Parts: sequence; structure tokens; C-alpha cells
Amino acid sequence: MSVALGIDFGTSNSAVGFLKDGLPCLVELEGKRQTIPSAIFFDTEEHAVLFGNEAIAFYMDGCEGRLLRSLKSILGSSLINESTEVGYENILFKDIIVSFIEQLKRRAEATVGHAVENVVMGRPVRFVDADEQADALAQGHLEEITRKAGFRHVFFQYEPIAAALDYEQSVTKEELALIVDIGGGTSDFSIVRVSPDRRGKLDRKQDILANTGVHIGGTDLDLKLSLEQVMPLFGYRTRTRSLFPGDAILDLPPTYYRELATWHKIVFLYNNRALQGVKNIHYHAQRQDLVDRLVRIIQKQEGHRLAGDVEAAKIALSERDAASVSLHYVENGLHASVSRSRFEGDIEKEKDGIVFQIKECLKRAGVSSSKIQTLFMTGGSTAIPLIAQACRDAVPSVRMVEGNRFGSVGMGLTIDAGIKFGR
Ligand SMILES: Nc1ncnc2c1ncn2[C@@H]1O[C@H](COP(=O)(O)OP(=O)(O)OP(=O)(O)O)[C@@H](O)[C@H]1O
Ligand SMILES: [Mg+2]
Repeated sequence: MSVALGIDFGTSNSAVGFLKDGLPCLVELEGKRQTIPSAIFFDTEEHAVLFGNEAIAFYMDGCEGRLLRSLKSILGSSLINESTEVGYENILFKDIIVSFIEQLKRRAEATVGHAVENVVMGRPVRFVDADEQADALAQGHLEEITRKAGFRHVFFQYEPIAAALDYEQSVTKEELALIVDIGGGTSDFSIVRVSPDRRGKLDRKQDILANTGVHIGGTDLDLKLSLEQVMPLFGYRTRTRSLFPGDAILDLPPTYYRELATWHKIVFLYNNRALQGVKNIHYHAQRQDLVDRLVRIIQKQEGHRLAGDVEAAKIALSERDAASVSLHYVENGLHASVSRSRFEGDIEKEKDGIVFQIKECLKRAGVSSSKIQTLFMTGGSTAIPLIAQACRDAVPSVRMVEGNRFGSVGMGLTIDAGIKFGR
């Protein structure tokens, strides 16, 4: 018998499972929690590396060092072969991901009781949109990383298929299900025939009618909320001033604002070159009072705090009409008020992109929505009412089942690990 893990390395959160007495279960990764934020903190004072909530807490406490989040977003980008400054060292992004996966492995092994070399890794349907070669390269990088973390036998499974395997545990008769997984980095869809009789079968090719996916997730919505409702307080969309007669008045370049609002790019602002760039913009800005806040937040390396608070406000907007983002650490008494109706208006494009992929999935499966019995939803971003409603509207009059929002994919990958490596 060879024990295997199922690893859901998520853009925002990760989960790991294994079969315990033949039954899939998730590992308690941080205290009693079965998921861990995909975050890593390099403490440059103590030369320690921290993970998950602990990493975030160290950063928030103002410890000297570097916080990295949303590392999965780097997999499908050209940054994967680049490095970042950590203290006096440069560390490859690839190796940072190795450390994180290695940590997941270690924590799982502490629960299992021995070393494990077999794994089924989840992957989004698309690491990279509309580029097969780049997409295959991204999986290649993840495989290399997974092996470097100590796994010898590595299989991949699409995240929505994993979610389907989790859902299949509870079905009592054969049906066609549309699986929707909208996470932090990607939205993934599958149409799968599930049935109690098919559970545990190795070859399910015939049952998977279609998969589609797109690089739209909660982190893109954080970016939108930040740019539209918070960054204007930092001078976003203001203009240059006229220093000499005849000077053209231009829009301030948006790059620094976008980086500040993009989880995996925040670290690129924490160096002298970026700081000089921002100071240069400040010099030319009409609204120096606002751009001064941009200079200050970058100087104080508070970008992740802001991104975290914007994300928390986005999550609050799933329940309320308005929320507030405190910016007291930038300026006494400063805060941004954000509204749900504006947020919903600003994420129309993302919502339409998701609905398009659902329709595409139905088209590729060659079935009309009336043939689908169940809509199974998982992933943190399905908590957004506008997004959830759009998914329901794409397959009207279908029964809806909500999975474990953060655990379904990890459970499904574990079930798959049991099938692929034997129980
Ligand atoms: N109640 C909520 N309302 C809105 N968004 C939420 C809520 N709860 C979580 N999220 C968002 O869900 C995302 C994380 O979801 P999840 O953990 O499913 O993603 P992931 O698996 O890490 O990412 P991916 O599968 O795309 O790699 C984050 O963007 C988070 O802000
Ligand atoms: Mg996920």
C-alpha cells in the first residue's frame, strides 16, 4: 500500500488530504484549520521562514522581512524564472513555491506519521488563457517544483474534476452535474456524469464531457475594488501639473497603482528604483497631497496590509451594501468607503467572462442547460451574490448544491489520489 496526498495549491488558500482507513480527510494544517493561506514570510531579522496565517501575522506585526502571497499567479507568468530580493539575497520565485509545497508536505507527513512520495496535484483548467504552449509550460514548472519539494510520483488533476469527485461522494443516482469552482486566481468549470456506481473507477474519460477555465478570480476582483474605490485617494486617475508654460497635462501613469493592488506584484514596489519612480510621479503630480500617500505606503511597505484590508472589504460586501477600509497607517483618520453597487458595476466584465465560460462548457459538452441536473458550486468567490446569481442564471431551473467552499477541491484530489495510487 502506498500512501498518497492530494494537494490543492490555491492562489489564496491551500489544502492537503490523505486517505485515513480508506476514507478521504483533510490535514489540519494550522492548528485545527484544514486550509492555510498560500502565504510565505521571510523574516530577515531572525532568518526564519513562516507560512500561512503565521506569515501574515509576522508581516502585520511589522517584522523586518518579505511577505509573498498569490504565488500560484506567478506560475503562468514570465516571472516564474525571475527572483526577488529577500534581505541581501535574491531568491527565485520557483524556489519560494518549492518551500511552500515542501511545508505542506511536511505538515501532512506529521499527521500521516511517515514520509509520503506520491501526490495528485490540482491544476486549474487554464494556467494561461488561450496559449496551449505557455499553459503546458506552467504545468511543467509546477511538476518540477513538486518534485523538488520531495515527491517522486506526481499526477495532475483538474481542480473542477476534483470538486466533481467530492460531490460524487453524496449522489444517490446518476446525473449530469455542472461543477463551478471560482477561487482566488481562476474560474474553472466541468460537466461531469456522476453516479454512485462510477465512484472509484480509474478511467473516467467518458464521464467528463467538457472542461473550461479562465484566469479570473477573487484577486482580480480585489484589484478592481482597489483601483476603483480606494486608489483614487492615493491620486490614481489624477493628472500631472504644468511646471513650465506649454507643458502638456497628462494622466499619471497607472503602473504603480496597479502593482500596489495586485497581490503577487506588491513586492516589486519595495525597492529603491520603484520608490524613486513614485517620488518622480509625486514631483509632477497636480495632486501632490494624494500622491504623497502613495509614496508613504510604499516607503512603509504596507502594500500587503492595504490589499488585505481591501479583500476584507470585498468579503464584507458579500453581506452588506457598504464597507470601510481604514487607512489610518497612511494618514490619521483616513478611510475609504466602498459600496456594493459600485463594486457590482465594476466587475461586470469579470462576471460576463465567467458566464461565457459556462456557456462554452455546455457547448463543448454538446448539452443544453436543461440536461444538467445539478449545479455544484465551490471556491471562495462563489460567495459573491452577483457571481453566484450569474452562474445560476446560466443554468436556470437546475438544483444547486453548495460544496465545502474551501475544502471540496482538496477532498476530491485526495479521492483521486486513492484511485490513482491505490487505497
Ligand atoms: N465571503 C466571501 N465573499 C467574497 N469573496 C470571498 C469570500 N470568501 C472568500 N472570498 C474570496 O475567495 C478567494 C479565495 O477562494 P479559494 O480559497 O477558493 O481560492 P483558491 O483555491 O486559493 O484559488 P484558485 O483555485 O483560483 O487557485 C479570495 O479571492 C477571497 O477573497
Ligand atoms: Mg481553488
